[in-house]
Amino acid sequence: MRPKISVVGLGFVGLPLTVASASRGFDTVGVDADAKKINSLCSGKSYIAEPGLDILLKDVLTSGRIHFTTDHDRAVKNSDITFLTVGTPLKASGEVDLSYMLDATRVIAQSLREKKRFHLLVVKSTLPPLTTRDYILPILGDLARDGAVDVAVNPEFLREGSAVHDLLDPHLIVIGAKNRRSSSLLKRYYRRFYEQVPEMLVTSIETAELIKYANNAFLATKISFINSIAALCQGMPESDVETVAYAIGKDPRIGPMFLKAGPGFGGSCLPKDLVGLIGFSQKIGEEPGLFRAVQAVNDAQFLRIVEMMRQQKVVKGGNAVTILGLAFKSGTDDIRNAVSVRLVWYLIKYGVSVRVHDPLALERFRMIFGDRISYFSSLPNALEGSDCCVILTEWDAYKKLRQELLLATMRSDNVIDVRRILDPKKFSEMNFKAIGLGS
Ligand code: UGA
Repeated sequence: MRPKISVVGLGFVGLPLTVASASRGFDTVGVDADAKKINSLCSGKSYIAEPGLDILLKDVLTSGRIHFTTDHDRAVKNSDITFLTVGTPLKASGEVDLSYMLDATRVIAQSLREKKRFHLLVVKSTLPPLTTRDYILPILGDLARDGAVDVAVNPEFLREGSAVHDLLDPHLIVIGAKNRRSSSLLKRYYRRFYEQVPEMLVTSIETAELIKYANNAFLATKISFINSIAALCQGMPESDVETVAYAIGKDPRIGPMFLKAGPGFGGSCLPKDLVGLIGFSQKIGEEPGLFRAVQAVNDAQFLRIVEMMRQQKVVKGGNAVTILGLAFKSGTDDIRNAVSVRLVWYLIKYGVSVRVHDPLALERFRMIFGDRISYFSSLPNALEGSDCCVILTEWDAYKKLRQELLLATMRSDNVIDVRRILDPKKFSEMNFKAIGLGS
């Protein structure tokens, strides 16, 4: 018999998981405290801009295998496995905020006390190592001790903007478990979930927690590494970080991915998990020197963008600057930790008139900046009368930009390609600067 699934926390991991699980034939209920979200999902509308999610949601809604509710109690009692996918954001103090996770665990524990059958609680949210041991298991108390409930840690490696794809085609499944009963149950679930079953690695709970942090910290390290090389290239004539990245990426020991120089890593995960790993290192008395350096390099990328603008003498009152791309990366409307937010505040401070364009993120940006800046859905309109065009996100539309359009619409000839998506040779009549490109 297929296990019945509940998923608690319908964010960018929980919602795709709920929908995908139902689409793979499991009776699945998605739970979220936000009634607005639940109503929207029940009417077939996803509030997350993930390619393929809307279509999959509409498909499964007609199948009768999926339900959405705010009622944790019924959802948990009527299922065999609960995936915990609530957010673990950072507090203003820089610590990981475990309150959503611990509140959800308390509510679930309450329901499980009244449930007669065995239940598996699977933690998918990213947590600092030892959180399961020190916080989650104590909340479950005798339920976990007596074996009525098992806990497993099953980190998720999906990326925003390709969540459905990554969920359906993972490179590895990590199962952190205390005993064979829980790892076997989760393995059985995934064997039924996937037509082509991915490799499954069973570890201790603690190792599984650390794997997730190590994975994101390593990706962040690669980015800060190539951005450090980009800084060297920028200070050296006739050099180009793109070519360096291509060459070192050919070495199979290094690999080509995550070697794209740019504005630094943003989003809700890499910056947050690095902070979490630094905090955890300190907690156990280890000096997080490397992780701090990765963070410092990332912070400094913003200053490099500003420096290029200063060299072009565009940061002054009365000038207009066009920002192309607000999302922290293409394929999403997410602007959390996006360099665009920091840069626009900076330009406003210096009296620059800011014009912004993005295929998806304009509305989110408007919520922060209101009428302090101008918003454009048309590229030529965004460029009209501008003194500098700064490309911050690697959207496909910007890759097709032509010198002729820029020269015809802008007031001055300054271009800054922070994402390295344009061919500098094709902008020879302009004052063209780019991250990691020696002048
Ligand atoms: C990241 C990880 O890639 C996922 O594996 C992980 O599951 C997820 O965090 C998470 O912890 O939930 P995501 O935040 O969606 O996924 O974004 P990435 O694709 O990793 O990009 C992160 C940032 O790095 C973006 O700002 C991107 O523009 C930047 N980046 C990426 C570069 O500057 N250069 C690169 O070569 C690659």
